[in-house]
Amino acid sequence: MTPKIVILTGAGISAESGLGTFRDVDGLWTKYDLNDVATPEGFARNPELVMDFYNARRANAAAASPNAAHAALARLEVDLQGEVLIVTQNVDGLHEAAGNRNVLHMHGALDSALCNACEHRWPAPAVMSVTDPCPRCKQQATRPDVVWFGEIPYGMDVISEALSQADVFVSIGTSGEVYPAANFVAEADHFGAHTVELNLDPSAGVSRFAETRFGPATEVVPQWVADELARAQK
Ligand code: OAD
Repeated sequence: MTPKIVILTGAGISAESGLGTFRDVDGLWTKYDLNDVATPEGFARNPELVMDFYNARRANAAAASPNAAHAALARLEVDLQGEVLIVTQNVDGLHEAAGNRNVLHMHGALDSALCNACEHRWPAPAVMSVTDPCPRCKQQATRPDVVWFGEIPYGMDVISEALSQADVFVSIGTSGEVYPAANFVAEADHFGAHTVELNLDPSAGVSRFAETRFGPATEVVPQWVADELARAQK
């Protein structure tokens, strides 16, 4: 059998790389109002504040290294006789840094800039400014290429197709508070996938998973990957 595995990741997988989560004690949303820094309206009100927020996150992400959980998922993609798609809500590049190739950033990526005027994308500078002109249309309409609340996540068609074909769906380090990602488990289950939650604490949707393993990502993810590879070789 050549299993198809879809893996949803959230901030929890990068926590042990030193990147903050959103809703945990000390999380980003305890320090910032998401309406100010993660909505189109907030950006229209105060673009400098939003740029500063993502410039700081870009600097943190650039200084971070993948941890044992990212490394285990990279090993899975290489060693599994099957298909692995990582759908990440994270805007850091730690899955790619660990070696994963098949990664879909549904909430965008810090290393990309987007023109609000012509939708051109280009590699983000380390420090992005509202006065940066778009390299294509030259307008000063630069924004981080991240998906804000009220915007449609990227790649939804590809994700829905992958969920409908998946043999296994795994959710790692996400609170299950944000849709549409929070609904992927129901979609995958509907199409017959085995569903697994790997998390520090049970997510909001924990009852929807067939299998759960709780603990730090650097422990539970490598264990699950080892079990999955052993199972696939039987
Ligand atoms: P949250 O902060 O909502 O949830 C983090 C999850 O990671 C929680 O379930 C924690 O229990 C878990 N966690 C924390 N430390 C962990 C560790 N060491 N190992 C494993 N799990 C750990 O983050 P997300 O679910 O990713 O969107 O948030 C989803 C979206 O909400 C984000 O993409 C972002 C945010 O607002 C936008 O900004 C659009």
